[in-house]
Amino acid sequence: MHKDIKKVLISEAEIEQRCSELGKQITSDYAAINDVPLLVAMLKGAVPFLTKIAKYIDLDVEMDFMAVASYQGTESIGDVRILKDLDRSIKGASILLVEDIVDTGRTLDTVKELLYNKGAGDVKIVTLLDKPSRRVVDITADYVGFVIPNEFVVGFGMDFNEKYRNLPYVGILKDECYL
Ligand code: IMP
Repeated sequence: MHKDIKKVLISEAEIEQRCSELGKQITSDYAAINDVPLLVAMLKGAVPFLTKIAKYIDLDVEMDFMAVASYQGTESIGDVRILKDLDRSIKGASILLVEDIVDTGRTLDTVKELLYNKGAGDVKIVTLLDKPSRRVVDITADYVGFVIPNEFVVGFGMDFNEKYRNLPYVGILKDECYL
């Protein structure tokens, strides 16, 4: 275990197992309606989750990436600035947004609206983690890996000051790391 980690909340094996379940569920849900989603992963945090879940989705999916940042100082509005936009037109496309964690929900709420404004036919969300106790906007992910308590977590894509994204598990940092 990394020296800065106080506790492993979700192990590598648990993540693998849950991604396989979610991938199979997504495969059968989209196959049932004869549809194939475009996987849109949110940089940077969703990259490990995307690569893990994608291998369990047995459909001819395409992948694209978006990067957004919250506007500084406008926390209550929740607007986002696009740092990297999609490479292709999404007119009429079924999109499955891939996210590391839904916290307040502001980011995904705004991105979802933005994708519909660009002409997406359908937008669904798969998130590795969900912190429902922190929600400030009414948004629900369609597929959730794990519901977690109100704790700041790192690892498997999630960072603190850009570090710890490469850890293969989700953990909680030691208190002294925040000093
Ligand atoms: P939201 O707009 O508040 O839902 O924020 C979502 C984004 O905040 C996530 O994509 C993460 O980048 C970041 N975030 C929220 N909670 C955590 C956490 O516990 N650890 C690391 N990043 C987090």
